[in-house]
Amino acid sequence: MCYTIPALVEEVRKGVATISYFGERKQAYCEFVKLSPGDYIYAQGGYVVEKISPAQAQKTLKAWKDVFFQLRKLDAESAALKANDNSSDLKLQRILEKARNSGKLSKAEALFLLRLKDPQAQFLLRRTANYLRQKFHNNSCCVHGILEISNICVRQCAYCGISAPSGPVRYRMSVGEIIAAAGEAVNKFGFKSLVLQSGEGCGYTVEELAEIVKKIRQRFPVLIFISFGEVGIPGLRKLYAAGARGLLLRFETSNPALYKKIHPGDTLDSRIKHLQAAYRMGYLIITGGLIGLPGSTEADSVNDINLAASLHAEMLSFGPFLPHPFTPLAKHPAPSEEAVLGVLALARIIFPAKTKILITTAYETLSPQARQNGLISGGNSIMINVTPLKYRSLYTIYPHRAHADQTVAQQVREALAMLKSFGRGPTDLGN
Ligand code: 5AD
Repeated sequence: MCYTIPALVEEVRKGVATISYFGERKQAYCEFVKLSPGDYIYAQGGYVVEKISPAQAQKTLKAWKDVFFQLRKLDAESAALKANDNSSDLKLQRILEKARNSGKLSKAEALFLLRLKDPQAQFLLRRTANYLRQKFHNNSCCVHGILEISNICVRQCAYCGISAPSGPVRYRMSVGEIIAAAGEAVNKFGFKSLVLQSGEGCGYTVEELAEIVKKIRQRFPVLIFISFGEVGIPGLRKLYAAGARGLLLRFETSNPALYKKIHPGDTLDSRIKHLQAAYRMGYLIITGGLIGLPGSTEADSVNDINLAASLHAEMLSFGPFLPHPFTPLAKHPAPSEEAVLGVLALARIIFPAKTKILITTAYETLSPQARQNGLISGGNSIMINVTPLKYRSLYTIYPHRAHADQTVAQQVREALAMLKSFGRGPTDLGN
């Protein structure tokens, strides 16, 4: 199985390849692979990750050709605006029209959208987000694998179940287990990008983590995102040198006082400095925050989205806060699904082009319809958990995690069927 379509290389200039998907041109860095025009490749996140034989490419392309255009058509039809996508509320109608024309919303306008309470008005907001998602990203949906290599963590984040002193039994996958799980994800299931995640200070030094990244890169054609918390600026450099090209690091909240309160001994400034440094080094940035954190407001959510914009996020990861019983925030309720969808939709409106928006596992845990609802509210990215089952149930950042007991094969099967029924192609065509 494969989550991206082979592309034909048309031109290579200064380390950047112009590639074509059924005639649609994109650009991709080719620092990992030596290429010439006429080659066929797989790309992820704007990087060429693998060169494949023309015979292999043509076989896959033949299987995809009709399906590719059918899926696109299905998606384009369902996302197209219809007469009843207009509102009789003139203020709402004016703001949505501005959004559809990619106008920049003021903070007051953004807040107005986030505060909509009427179900029909909320529906129109999501329809607008879906329209923009289709207009700029077509039907592509990014599918990353995520491998949780350790649940050991030195932080005391007030919301997180693995930071709690009375947290789960701790594990750290051995290097051999990590390589085997990554290999299975790439070779057996066709993942072209993998997020390696752990608690901060997970029991491996940065040097050891870099060695793991290097080993995976040497063995498998895959784009690696790291998500080991704040590893320090030199740590980021070492991991980049080892071959990591993406960083998943949420800033959690853009409100500095709230950040400090729920992250003892840590500051938002330090988090932002990491993200800025990573971007300057060339990392693809996935960032975002928690929706509905106790003490946060809708204005904070608007600021969160704007902060992610200023950090050059290539993908946004905004998910609901879910109370964990062993944490100081155990008694606080999770936000409503409507609140989550409102943030996703507003994020799409603020970031119409370029940025992918993830349907998070936390949202999937909040609602069994998360993927279906999120994907028609601006979302265009999902992650599949490739952590071995014996460890997966120990990565209890919040309780009852979605997919905690599903094999990778089951998750892949379900995800692909769901995407297909929505007219989405499990592809990352890059920007
Ligand atoms: N609810 C939702 N998300 C959580 N995370 C940690 N704990 C929780 C929780 N209780 C998220 C954080 C972190 C990511 C790895 O998991 O946002 O960045």
